[in-house]
Amino acid sequence: MLELRGLHVGYGRTAVVHGVDIEVPDGAVVAVMGHNGAGKTTLLRAAVGLLPARSGTVLLGGEDVTRTRPHQRVRAGLAYVPQGQQSFGQLTARENLQLVADVAGSQGARRLDEALDLFPALRGLLTRRAGLLSGGQRQQLAIARALITGPRLIVLDEPTEGIQPSVVAEIEDAIVQLASGGLSVLLVEQHVGFALAASSHYYVLESGRVTAHGAGGVAQEGDVRAAMAI
Ligand SMILES: Nc1ncnc2c1ncn2[C@@H]1O[C@H](COP(=O)(O)OP(=O)(O)OP(=O)(O)O)[C@@H](O)[C@H]1O
Ligand SMILES: [Mg+2]
Repeated sequence: MLELRGLHVGYGRTAVVHGVDIEVPDGAVVAVMGHNGAGKTTLLRAAVGLLPARSGTVLLGGEDVTRTRPHQRVRAGLAYVPQGQQSFGQLTARENLQLVADVAGSQGARRLDEALDLFPALRGLLTRRAGLLSGGQRQQLAIARALITGPRLIVLDEPTEGIQPSVVAEIEDAIVQLASGGLSVLLVEQHVGFALAASSHYYVLESGRVTAHGAGGVAQEGDVRAAMAI
């Protein structure tokens, strides 16, 4: 579904990501873990087209999208949920979802309903301003909004950052459910336990390089902790 090949990304004179290879097979959940500043967000921004790749290739569904704009990648089936539980704070939760559903045309209403089935807690919050929701609720809203675009691949940047454990479990369940429905997921996480429980493959990124990778699953936790020296 997504292949990053020899990707180099940076800001100005600073090189941040140094030749990263990552593959997200169809319907798989792939976790990228690494410490603060390792380059995880930078890598995702290049994957979704918000930052240019200095060299290397981004393949989406087998097609080279390296030089395409973000909206073109969205049209090709990619959705991105940035770090930080972003939403339109002055709009209600429903309006946050509806504005994407409106763009999605005839599929919009059904997808909105399916997104709410995935996060039933949101149903009781639809009239509340998004800015007044908790961090966990806002994260669910952001994922729901991305799903209404009808993606084949969803890219999630630290969906559990700063969120209470019970909501983390709900988000984990939702990710597993989405993958079992055939959606591919690229997940950036610092919570090793959560990331491995949800994923079929993992990568550890340190200082912009992949320093370990392998099959996901909780059994790998020792290997990942050793690779990350935690
Ligand atoms: N806009 C920018 N301009 C210059 N340097 C940046 C910019 N954004 C990030 N960086 C630098 O790039 C490096 C990687 O940052 P990045 O945000 O990708 O890390 P991260 O792994 O996502 O960290 P975190 O876990 O804290 O989210 C850091 O050294 C950071 O300071
Ligand atoms: Mg980040």
